Amino acid sequence: MPLNLVLAGPPGSGKTTLGAAAAQALGRPFIDGDAWIEAHWGRPVPDYFAAGEAELFRAREVEAYRTLAEQQALVIATGGGALLNPRTRAALERSGVLIGLTAPLDALVERVEVEGGPARPLIAGDTRARLAALLRDREMLYNSFANSVVTDRPLAETVAAVLASYEAAQGGPRFELNGTSAFYGRGLLARLPDLLAAKGLRAPFILIGDEHASEKHGLPVSAALAAPLLNMPSGEAHKNLDTVAALYRGCLKHGLERGGTIVALGGGVTGDTAGFVAATFMRGVAWANLPSTVLAMADAGLGGKVGVDLPEGKNLVGAFHPPAVVAADFATLTTLPPEEVRAGLAEVIKSGVISDPVLFSGLADGSLDLEAAIIRAAAVKVAVVNIDQFERGERATLNLGHTIGHGVEAASHFTLRHGEAISVGMFAEARLAELLGLAAAGLAAEIATCLQRHGLPVRCPGLRPDAIQSLMLSDKKKAGGQLRYALPRRIGECAWGVSVEPAALALVLEEITHA
Ligand SMILES: NC(=O)c1ccc[n+]([C@@H]2O[C@H](COP(=O)([O-])OP(=O)(O)OC[C@H]3O[C@@H](n4cnc5c(N)ncnc54)[C@H](O)[C@@H]3O)[C@@H](O)[C@H]2O)c1
Repeated sequence: MPLNLVLAGPPGSGKTTLGAAAAQALGRPFIDGDAWIEAHWGRPVPDYFAAGEAELFRAREVEAYRTLAEQQALVIATGGGALLNPRTRAALERSGVLIGLTAPLDALVERVEVEGGPARPLIAGDTRARLAALLRDREMLYNSFANSVVTDRPLAETVAAVLASYEAAQGGPRFELNGTSAFYGRGLLARLPDLLAAKGLRAPFILIGDEHASEKHGLPVSAALAAPLLNMPSGEAHKNLDTVAALYRGCLKHGLERGGTIVALGGGVTGDTAGFVAATFMRGVAWANLPSTVLAMADAGLGGKVGVDLPEGKNLVGAFHPPAVVAADFATLTTLPPEEVRAGLAEVIKSGVISDPVLFSGLADGSLDLEAAIIRAAAVKVAVVNIDQFERGERATLNLGHTIGHGVEAASHFTLRHGEAISVGMFAEARLAELLGLAAAGLAAEIATCLQRHGLPVRCPGLRPDAIQSLMLSDKKKAGGQLRYALPRRIGECAWGVSVEPAALALVLEEITHA
C-alpha cells in the first residue's frame, strides 16, 4: 500500500489547499486534520480554546492522528501544532512521508488574512505579531523536517514540488534523530556510496564487520567503498577493550584519518564497539552503522550510545557518538539465524509494551510482519529519544526489562542471548509492577504470552537469585546506590525511576528462577 503523504507547517503555509490539490493529483482521499477532529467530536476547534480546554483538544488531536496513521494512501494536512507531540509525529512518520511547508512571514500573514476562513485561535488579534511569535516558539519544529517545500510559487508549481519531494522521500531517510539519518528498506547496501556521500561522509573508509555478517554481506560493501575490512569476533564476550585496541591498530595500519569514516556492519555488539572506536579514535571520526540483526535495527543502532563491557559489568565504558547514517537493509536479515531473530524480537516487543499497543497486539496475534514491526519499534525509540530532549528521564523507559535482564544475562555467563535475558527481565519487571500495584493483575501473563509465542523465555531455571541480584547491583544505571526501574503500567505505558523494596525483588527472582 502506498505511504501516506503528511503535510505540516505553520498557519498560512498552505497545508489544506496543497493537500487537497496533491490528493486530487494522486487520486487519494484528503484529510484535513482539524476538520476531521471537528467532525469526529462534533465541536469546532476554536471552541476548545475559548473554553480554556486546550489540553482536551491536544489529547483528542493525539488520538485523531494515531487513528489516521493506522490507515494508508491518505493525504493528511496536520494542524499547526499537532507534531509538537513527539508520539504523534512518530506515528505519522512511520505511516508515510512527512513534508514540512514553509513560506516567508509576509506570505503567511497575507494568506491567513485573506483566507479569513475558520477562526485560528492561536493567532487571533494582531495576525503578524502573533504569527511571528508562533514561528519563534515553534522554530525547532518547523526546522526539523527532512523534506520541506517553500510555498511561495503558484499553486500548480508548488503541488508539483510537493509530489516530487514525496516521490524522492520514499527512498529517503525514515527517521532523523540527533544528526543521524536512518534508512530502512531492502537494497540499501547497494545504495551505500550515495547515502554516505549525501551526508558528507568521506574516504578513507574502514569497514568493521561482525565476522558472520561480513562473511555474508561484507564483500560488496567493502568493494563499493574501497574500504579495508576489519573483522571482529562475534559475541558479547568480545565487546571489550581488547577488541577496541585491536581495531585501533587496524585503523592505524590502514591509514584511517580524522576526516575518514568508520562503517560498522553487524549486530548491536559490532555497532556498540565500532561506534566506540569511532568516538575515540583520533578524538573521534564520523561513522555509519549498517545494523544486520533485528535488535540492532529496531533499537541498538539508533540513539547514539556506544561502548563496551568491562569484566565488572556491561556497557561500563562508553560515549555518546551518533552515526551520521544508519542503513538497515532488511535483506541482511535473511542470513540471520532464527534464534537471533527471536532474541531481537524481545526488544521489539519491549517497544510495544513501552508505547505502541498496536505493535504489541500485532506481535501478540501474529498479524504484523517482521519488517513493519522493526520500523514501528524504531519509531518508538526515535520518539522516546526525542522526548528526552524536553522531559528529562523518559529515555529510561527504554530500560524496561534491562535492570533485571542484565543481572540474568550476567548470571547466565552470557549463555542466554541479550534478547532472551531481556525477555526474562521484562516478564520479571511486569511481575514487580503487579506486586507494587502499578499494573493490574494479568499484565505479566499477557506479556509472557506474547514473548512465548515468539519462542522467548520468561524464566531462567537454574540461575541463583542472589547471583542475579548482586550482578544487577553492579549495573551502571543504579542511582545513588539504589536501583531504579522502568516498569510497565499497562500495554503502551511505562513508568520510570521506580524504586523497589528488596523483598519484592527477592520474591520475583525466586519466581523466575524456579522451573
Ligand atoms: N547502543 C544501544 O543503545 C544498545 C541498545 C540495545 C542493545 N545494545 C547492545 O546490543 C548488543 C546485542 O546486539 P545483537 O542482539 O544484535 O547481538 P550481536 O551483535 O551479538 O549479533 C548476534 C549474532 O548474530 C550474528 N549476526 C549478525 N548479523 C548477522 C547476519 N546478517 N547474518 C548472520 N549472522 C549475523 C552475529 O555474529 C552474532 O552471532 C548487546 O551488546 C547490547 O548491549 C545496545
